[in-house]
Amino acid sequence: MIRAVDVIRTKREREPLTDEQIDWVVAGFTRGDVADEQMSALAMAILLNGMNARETARWTAAMIASGERLALPDVGRPLVDKHSTGGVGDKITLPLAPLVAACGAAVPQLSGRGLGHTGGTLDKLESIPGWRAELSLDEIGAQLSSVGAVICATTPTLAPADRKLYALRDVTGTVESIPLIASSIMSKKIAEGTTGLVLDVKSGSGAFMKTPERARALAEAMVEIGGAHGLRTAAVLTDMSVPLGRTAGNALEVAESIEVLRGGGPTDVVELTVALAREMLDLAGITDAEPAEVLASGAAYPVWEAMIAAQGGDPSAPLPVASHVEELRADRSGVLERCDALAVGLAAWRLGAGRARKDHAVQAAAGVRLLVDLGDEVTTGQPLLEMHTDTRDAVPAARAALDGGVVVGDGPAPPRPPLIGPTLRP
Ligand code: URA
Repeated sequence: MIRAVDVIRTKREREPLTDEQIDWVVAGFTRGDVADEQMSALAMAILLNGMNARETARWTAAMIASGERLALPDVGRPLVDKHSTGGVGDKITLPLAPLVAACGAAVPQLSGRGLGHTGGTLDKLESIPGWRAELSLDEIGAQLSSVGAVICATTPTLAPADRKLYALRDVTGTVESIPLIASSIMSKKIAEGTTGLVLDVKSGSGAFMKTPERARALAEAMVEIGGAHGLRTAAVLTDMSVPLGRTAGNALEVAESIEVLRGGGPTDVVELTVALAREMLDLAGITDAEPAEVLASGAAYPVWEAMIAAQGGDPSAPLPVASHVEELRADRSGVLERCDALAVGLAAWRLGAGRARKDHAVQAAAGVRLLVDLGDEVTTGQPLLEMHTDTRDAVPAARAALDGGVVVGDGPAPPRPPLIGPTLRP
């Protein structure tokens, strides 16, 4: 007979868990037979002592088995999705899903809401008047067939063990375990039923993984799980020490994404969107499309309009605008030497763009718009960025978050790490 205390002891003594122990403990925890305190102790033992590749793959399988797998209908095109580990100004999903659909694949993107300083894709799209995140499985299938792209809320029946475990990890200091993060992300993506998956694994101050080494280890773990489950997976290592693009905040990011879909927008957002689209099309076996040209021509924009309209949104309605906008100005002449992703993300969050607790509402119009780029010359009093909010009282906290994070100096600015690093494949 398996007992929770013996499973905890096994991992505490740095022994690998057996397949039976893993299946038993994950299923028991989902049912409520394994108590929260026992799962917390096990999560801490895993954080401290790790899990090998076999254990991590089995843990992922047990989390998938805790719920349903989505049976997506055959939509006549290859299904391919992407997941980002999250960052400041990371709006890439918004132009990427319509772009990849415009190039011939189908993108089922089941997403979450944001917690903390990184924004959630659904929060961004909910700033579009009328847009609806919750879709039934039939609606997802119909939209994939008609439009080729759907971005919607994940369903509660998908990997419920992960939902329960993530909530526990959040309050027990056990989020930062690579096997637990990798199995959490991959269980949801595998249960979603995509056949190809591109992972954007970020490192830097604004990312979950602060160093390129940790990001690589996470990417390797996820690619390995994908391989073990027969999911075609590639992971691209990217930089998150500087915000992506010039906006952080829900409606501000939607507006910037629309610029990109119309063939303009900031170079880094365009570059990363195209690089991830190439990887997705490669996994989908589509070789005759050139995403850079499709994006620059504006041909992905009608797909965006159809995708938003299919979910009740009005793609031509004006986006919400904040009632209060204040500038941060340069306190001296010089060069913008530092524009730290975490500082900008925290400022956007304080302004109301993000939530501190799951049940908090976000402000659609709140956030930060950067007005100068790293390395630009500026003069005393020149506006460096705008702070947008509906709660004027939030501005001092946003200014405090930016203090030391947005810095004008004598220059030159230290070079930004390359935006796009290597791609890992099985
Ligand atoms: N995102 C997830 O979905 N799970 C984790 O464990 C961490 C980030």
